[in-house]
Amino acid sequence: MTIYTDDQLQALMRIGKIVATTLKIMQDAVRPGIRTEELNEIGARYLYKQGATPAPIADYQFPAETCISINEEAAHGIPGRRVVRPGDLVNIDVSAELGGIYADTGGTVAVPTASREAERLMQHTRAALDAACHVVTAGKPLSVIGQAVESVARKGGYKVIRELGGHGVGYSLHEEPRNIPNFHTRSARTQLVNGMVLTIEPFLTRGSAHIYEDEDGWTLRTTHHTLACQYEHTVVITRGKPILVTAL
Ligand code: CO
Ligand code: CO
Repeated sequence: MTIYTDDQLQALMRIGKIVATTLKIMQDAVRPGIRTEELNEIGARYLYKQGATPAPIADYQFPAETCISINEEAAHGIPGRRVVRPGDLVNIDVSAELGGIYADTGGTVAVPTASREAERLMQHTRAALDAACHVVTAGKPLSVIGQAVESVARKGGYKVIRELGGHGVGYSLHEEPRNIPNFHTRSARTQLVNGMVLTIEPFLTRGSAHIYEDEDGWTLRTTHHTLACQYEHTVVITRGKPILVTAL
């Protein structure tokens, strides 16, 4: 989606605030002993109350309203009977539609008492998202995102998961550009333009930097079962700083 009018921007900001608030409510509810289906229920209830439609169900026949991925699960974890335990790294991804406009956000929280390593991974993944948000400006190539993310990851001794990246968003959950790499590649030559709406979502881990799909047909796990971490914002590209659609 490219934003041309104030009405478009307002519609995007509206759903952006809803998914960001949903994420916050769910993160605040994370505690040892809670089932991931209970966390999902808390988020789903809020989304429906706002009149929003959860994108995973509506667009992908995913079996829940939100994705909850724990520890070595990098993405698309299915909420269910699993109980959150002390020390778990819990990633929640929330995407939804309102009035035909989509926004997408995600974040990771550690259940006390998480390891020093888990805390460090979270710090670096968040720093990678911040770094990428600082360099995106109209006129630059898409590759500045991967450059920024990969450089933060490397400094911390981490790798970016190659298969997972950002994407265009707005009129659907995934639209052009369909894959925004989190690593430096010259093939990401598309120019960022004023008003362009996309997600920035670094995925960091140690180990092989690759994933495989679980037998459930959804959950993506790191091949070496190393901890994975993601943070995600939907942003609007401008000639200056981007607008963070999903920041509260
Ligand atoms: Co997402
Ligand atoms: Co996304």
